[in-house]
Amino acid sequence: MDENQFALITGTSSGLGYEMAQYLLEEGYNVIGVSRRGTSLDHPNFIDILCDIKEEAAVEEMYELIAGHTDSLSLIVLNAGIFEMSPIVETSTKEFSDHLATNVTGSFHILKHASDFLIEDLTHVVVISSIAAKKGLANISAYSASKFALNGMIESVREEWEHLGIRFSTLMPGAIYTPLWDEENEDLPRDEMLSMGDFMHVFQMIVTSPVYMQFPEITFLHKKGLLK
Ligand SMILES: NC(=O)c1ccc[n+]([C@@H]2O[C@H](COP(=O)([O-])OP(=O)(O)OC[C@H]3O[C@@H](n4cnc5c(N)ncnc54)[C@H](OP(=O)(O)O)[C@@H]3O)[C@@H](O)[C@H]2O)c1
Repeated sequence: MDENQFALITGTSSGLGYEMAQYLLEEGYNVIGVSRRGTSLDHPNFIDILCDIKEEAAVEEMYELIAGHTDSLSLIVLNAGIFEMSPIVETSTKEFSDHLATNVTGSFHILKHASDFLIEDLTHVVVISSIAAKKGLANISAYSASKFALNGMIESVREEWEHLGIRFSTLMPGAIYTPLWDEENEDLPRDEMLSMGDFMHVFQMIVTSPVYMQFPEITFLHKKGLLK
C-alpha cells in the first residue's frame, strides 16, 4: 500500500479502537487515534490526539492538529462510543443524553468537519455501529436509540457524498468481549460474546476490500444469538 496513507480512528484508548489502530499500523498506515484519555500505543506512525468528540470546538482543534501531518484521510473509522445498561425507568436524562451526544453527535462532528480531508473516489468511512441499531433489546434504550440514529445519519451522508465517490461501510456486531462490558451485568455469559479477534476478522475483510466496494450494513454475532 501507499505508505503515506492516513487513517483516523475515534476511540483508540481501549477495546476495538486500540485493536484496529494496531492492525492498521502493521499494515503500513499512519494512524491518528482520538480519545479523551489518550492511547498508549508506542509506534512511530501513531499520532495520539486527546479530544472529546462531544465538543465541536475540540473536534475542530483536532482537525487543525491533523492538518499539521496530512491533508487527506484514506480511512475514517467512527468507533468511539459509550454503553450503559439500565431499565428505562432507572435511566437518567443525563445518561440518555450522553449516549446521543457521544454515539451520534460525536460522529456528526467528525464527519461535518472532515470535508477538507476527503479524497475523491478513495476515502472509506467505516462505522462501528451495533446490532442494537437493528433491534431494541431490554435495558439498552439509550444505547439502542443512539445507534439507530447513527445509522440514519450515515445513510443520509452516504447519499450526500455519493457524487464524491466516498464509500461507507457500517458494521453491526453483536456483543464482543471488550472493556465496555467491565461494569455491566455480570450474569451475561462472556463466552457467548465474540472475541476481539472475531471482530478483527470482519474489519480486515472490510478495509482490504476493493476500492469500489462498500458494505452498507454488515451484521455478525455469536451463533448462540443475542444475549438475554
Ligand atoms: N463491545 C461490544 O460488545 C460492542 C458491540 C457492538 C458495537 N460496539 C461498538 O464498538 C465501539 C467500541 O466499543 P468497545 O467495545 O471497544 O468499547 P470501549 O473499550 O469502552 O472503548 C470505547 C472507546 O471510545 C472512546 N470514547 C468514548 N467517549 C468518547 C468521547 N466523548 N470522545 C472521544 N472518545 C470517546 C473511549 O475513549 P476515552 O474513554 O479515552 O475517551 C474508548 O477508547 C463502540 O461504538 C461500541 O458501541 C461494541
